[in-house]
Parts: sequence; C-alpha cells; structure tokens
Amino acid sequence: MKTFTFQNRQRQSPLKTLAAAALAGWFLTQASAAEPTNSSPTYLRDIQPIFMGSCSRCHNQETRFVYNWLDYKTAYADRWEIKRRIWDSWKDSYYKEAMPIANSPESLALTDEERLTIRKWVESGSPRGVAPPADGVKTKAERIELGHRLFTICAACHQPTGRGLPNLFPPLAGSDYLNADKNRAIKLVINGRQGEVVVNGMKFNNNMPAFPLSDQDVANVMTYVYNSFGNSGLEVTPEEVKVLRAQAPEPVGKPAPAVKSAFE
Ligand code: HEC
Ligand code: HEC
Repeated sequence: MKTFTFQNRQRQSPLKTLAAAALAGWFLTQASAAEPTNSSPTYLRDIQPIFMGSCSRCHNQETRFVYNWLDYKTAYADRWEIKRRIWDSWKDSYYKEAMPIANSPESLALTDEERLTIRKWVESGSPRGVAPPADGVKTKAERIELGHRLFTICAACHQPTGRGLPNLFPPLAGSDYLNADKNRAIKLVINGRQGEVVVNGMKFNNNMPAFPLSDQDVANVMTYVYNSFGNSGLEVTPEEVKVLRAQAPEPVGKPAPAVKSAFE
C-alpha cells in the first residue's frame, strides 16, 4: 500500500504537484493572515523598532533614492523585497545585496532573531498591529522591558553590549558622560548630537541622528540604559523628557566634519 502511494506520487504531473503546493501555500497564508496574536509580529509593536534601529539611518524621511521604511505603507508595499533582502540574500538564496549593507554597524547589530521576526511578519500578512500602550507603564520594571525592545535602535551603533566601537561610537556601558548628567544625556537622545565628545577618556567626533521617539519611548529606552551595563540605575519619566524637549539643545563645542554615508 505504502509503495503504491509512493509510485502514484511519482507519476503525478508536475503541474498537479505545483497546484497542490500552491493550494497548501494558500491555506497556510489564510491561517496565518488571521488577527495578529501576541506571538505574531506586528509592524507597530515589533517591526518599527527594528526598522528604526537597523534601517533608518539610510531609509528615512529625508532619503530620496531609497525607500523610507518608517512609513508603514511603503514598507508594506515592498514587504516581499524586504523579506528577500533580510532573509534570502542573507542565506545566499537571492542574488541581490543583503540588507542592512554588509559591514555597516546595522548589519553587525541585527540579530538572527530580528531577521526571523521580519520574515515572519511578511509571511503572516504584515499586520500593522498595535503599539504598546503609551500610558500603560506603571513600574520601573515595565519601563525597562519596553526600553529593552527599543534598544535595537541604539544597538546598531552602541552595540548590543553597550560598549560602542572605538573611534566611532562611544560606550554607554559605564559611561561617565551618561552617568554624570542625566538631563544632558536625555537632551542628547532627543536632539541627536554632532561634534567632539570625550567618554571615559576616549575622544569621539561623529554624528548621532535624532530618532522619531515619543517622550514615553525616550523615557523607556533611557531607563533601560541606566539600568543596564553597570550604569547608575536611574529612572527616567516621560514628564521629565517633555520638559527637556521644550528646551534648546545643549551647545556642542567644536563642529565636526560631516560623516561620510556608507554609499558615498
Ligand atoms: C547603510 C545604509 C543602509 C542600511 C543600514 C539599510 N539599507 Fe536597505 N538599502 C540601502 C541602499 C543604498 C539601497 C539601494 C541599493 C540596493 O538596492 O541594493 C537599499 C535597498 C534596500 C531594499 C531594496 C528596495 C527595492 O525594492 O529595490 C530593501 C528591501 C532594503 N534596502 C531593506 C532594508 C532593511 C529592511 C534594512 C534594515 C533592516 C536596511 N535596508 C538597511 C542602504 C541601506
Ligand atoms: C547611528 C548611530 C547611533 C545610534 C543609532 C545611536 N547613537 Fe548614541 N551616539 C552616537 C554617536 C556617534 C555619539 C557621539 C556623538 C558626538 O560625537 O557628538 C553618541 C552619543 C551618545 C551618548 C552620549 C555619550 C555616551 O556614550 O554616553 C548617549 C547617552 C547616547 N548616544 C545614547 C543613545 C541612545 C539611548 C540611543 C538609542 C535611542 C542611541 N544613542 C542611538 C551614535 C548613535
């Protein structure tokens, strides 16, 4: 009996096999395109922080020649190419260049798990999803947890270990600059910074862009940073961020020459 079914399969026309495969694929998509669950990735909750951290330096509102993945419609429209560049090219099964561009800080910081999250998001119909509640945070522990997720943004440059990269990105781990003046550090994250800075005795002269983070986001990510990597354990609240956002950015001593972008 077993042998018979086997032989029967062998004899199936390629067309039939294709049709069967397509049908199976259709059922799979139907099943997974259903309402997003807590384990199926959604744009606002899971993907946007990854795009902000690992893509937005090159793919943002200002770039004219590459798409802006921070815009959901754009990302949704090109989702299959995103999946191919993030997953297939990385596995060498697609001929175009893998993303993020090889050897960029973003490509070094993007984890296998994040690549998988992007792939799953595309395969399950790319639901837009709900952002974590803005005002639902009650405890410092919740703040740290949400901040940890947003840290993908910072990890692209400051590295998942928070140790930075010599001459390029200063450390957040045990950083004297960070721990000496909380307001100055928060303002830097709100406004970005370009110029010379000395952290733990090492000189840096580079550019940190400002990210489209809400007061809540800045509070969460900074609370995570302050409570990780041997830092001082402070908590940052959205109210504090709001006050600092209304103030002028900290003046920076010497202006730095603009950093060359990776594709100049
Ligand atoms: C260091 C800059 C840089 C980073 C970081 C980067 N990209 Fe790109 N990306 C480019 C450039 C330049 C192109 C155009 C050249 C090309 O198509 O290979 C591009 C093209 C693409 C394309 C092809 C678009 C199309 O339809 O032709 C996709 C998809 C893409 N990037 C996705 C991503 C994603 C997702 C991330 C983040 C996980 C990312 N990229 C991070 C610079 C970058
Ligand atoms: C594109 C790279 C990049 C990303 C992403 C980035 N930074 Fe930075 N960051 C820098 C650079 C470069 C400097 C030094 C700026 C200068 O030279 O003026 C810096 C400086 C800092 C400093 C002050 C110096 C220190 O090491 O204590 C803090 C604090 C900081 N960043 C926090 C963050 C946080 C939090 C995030 C995530 C929300 C983040 N950064 C994302 C590049 C980046």
